[in-house]
Amino acid sequence: MGFKKCHLLAALPFFLLCSLILNNGVEASHHVHEDLQSISAENVKDLHRTGYHFQPTKHWINDPNGPMYFNGVYHLFYQYNPKGAVWGNIVWAHSVSKDLINWERLEPAIFPSKSFDQYGCWSGSATILPGNKPVILYSGIIDKNNTQVQNYAVPENVSDPYLHKWIKPDNNPLIVADKHVNKTAFRDPTTAWLGKDGQWRITLGSRKNDKGVSLLYKSKNFINWTKSKKPLHSLAGTGNWECPDFFPVSIQGTKELDTSVIEGDIKHVMKISLDATRYDYYTLGTYDTKKDKYIPDKGMVDGWNGLRYDYGNFYASKSFFDPSKNRRILWGWANESDPVHDDVKKGWAGIQLIPRTIVLDPNHKQLLQWPVEELETLRGKKVELINKKLDKGERVEIEGIPAAQADVEVTFSFNSLEKAEPFDPSWDRYDAQKLCSQKGSSVQGGLGPFGLLTLASEKLEEYTPVFFRIFKDQEQKHVVLMCSDASRSSLEDKKGMYKPSSAGFVDVDINDKKLSLRSLIDHSVVESFGAKGKTCITSRVYPTIATYDNAHLYAFNNGTETVEIESLNAWSMNKPQLMNH
Ligand code: FRU
Repeated sequence: MGFKKCHLLAALPFFLLCSLILNNGVEASHHVHEDLQSISAENVKDLHRTGYHFQPTKHWINDPNGPMYFNGVYHLFYQYNPKGAVWGNIVWAHSVSKDLINWERLEPAIFPSKSFDQYGCWSGSATILPGNKPVILYSGIIDKNNTQVQNYAVPENVSDPYLHKWIKPDNNPLIVADKHVNKTAFRDPTTAWLGKDGQWRITLGSRKNDKGVSLLYKSKNFINWTKSKKPLHSLAGTGNWECPDFFPVSIQGTKELDTSVIEGDIKHVMKISLDATRYDYYTLGTYDTKKDKYIPDKGMVDGWNGLRYDYGNFYASKSFFDPSKNRRILWGWANESDPVHDDVKKGWAGIQLIPRTIVLDPNHKQLLQWPVEELETLRGKKVELINKKLDKGERVEIEGIPAAQADVEVTFSFNSLEKAEPFDPSWDRYDAQKLCSQKGSSVQGGLGPFGLLTLASEKLEEYTPVFFRIFKDQEQKHVVLMCSDASRSSLEDKKGMYKPSSAGFVDVDINDKKLSLRSLIDHSVVESFGAKGKTCITSRVYPTIATYDNAHLYAFNNGTETVEIESLNAWSMNKPQLMNH
């Protein structure tokens, strides 16, 4: 994930440094590839480009920015390098859609042009003010040292249906760092919410030494902002917080809510993107509106060991409320997992993942995520399997659809939980990835491993298995491990190719002896949703044989307990319209 400069590493305790290098294998902080950042792509390589995920025709993208629904149109802005396939020269690219699936690319909406953003227009969010007036807040970079300020931009003509042009008024910047704030870790303002006192509030990411901080600012008029003495939230030992997101979720779960709903039958979600690990973590909790403080619920694990939106390649996400369907939608960015020089050769890097709806799990302990329903409009040919038994070591091919670009939903069932392997008490409950790398899809188990082999070559030289494995702990509770294992995804094994055994635990009651899985397979990405969206894992993979028509899809079982494919539906996926993309 190389980009920009590295400020954080020096501040991190050694053990954190080690764990981030070992855990996520990516450059944790910002690194500028000055020699590469302005090499324009002459030939864009099609191999590994996605079929139905959002990506521009060429060059680098990162964070989704300012997503919003305005006058019948969805807007997605994103961090984009117009000049090359590595991070740098960042502008806000702009695309619009009527259905979140087919997109039209417009000219960049915000780009460096003024003293308050001449070194970069970094991430931020949109808020729709009363009177139906959209406004964007973003972080501007004002010097070579990456000093950050907060700016605003408004549409030149609010009646233009696509809001092509954005103006950055001269009274920018709105917010500069005071002497207590680290001005190079001071960025990514959220969508604003309105307090009962009539003041708008935003939070933005920062750090104080190694403490991650979500600063709070208030304003009556959206122009003059004052920093609150206390941050909205903070946590020692987590390093820099990027792209915070703070929003309500409905406890009833029927209708989701505008960000300004701060009371009622709700819980609040606080999401932070941890620069050091490159994962998006969240907690559920209460927003104390009197103290302007967020308090995670009892039992919630905050920080490194907390819940993640996704246990794979998913970062710097941002959500927005879609009033047309009363839902909250989450966008996340997946970087490449190949070496930087390969990106330059490919001429492109980064995709936006399929937008997901998010709701509170009825157990109130986590969120559930699911691809937006509009994705189903891309489904083409369907194949089906019903009541197919898979004995130990058995594998069945799902034939009849192109396996490199598909949407698969499967429910596995089993007769007994007896054969679940013991969960060794010395194993780390928070390190699912380690367990997955030791007990991969081919290591025989009791109940599992079972699941799908995606992007597989016919002779299995290459494959990305997505699977479950079930254990029983000392208290006789079942522990469900879910893996999306990229370790054998590609025969290519050069330095800088990252092939993690991404994994998470699934907090699910399996007494009904069923587990479901959905995987969105798209050439170099496999996005998976376990147990109806309780645990999500995204892998970026670069098969050399299992490409296009040579990609295969299988269901498998390597446990001694027989499992049954109760039902499996798989669809070919059509290409959306991506005009000018
Ligand atoms: C997260 C991030 C943000 C920043 C942007 C710059 O990936 O580092 O904190 O605003 O990317 O492109």
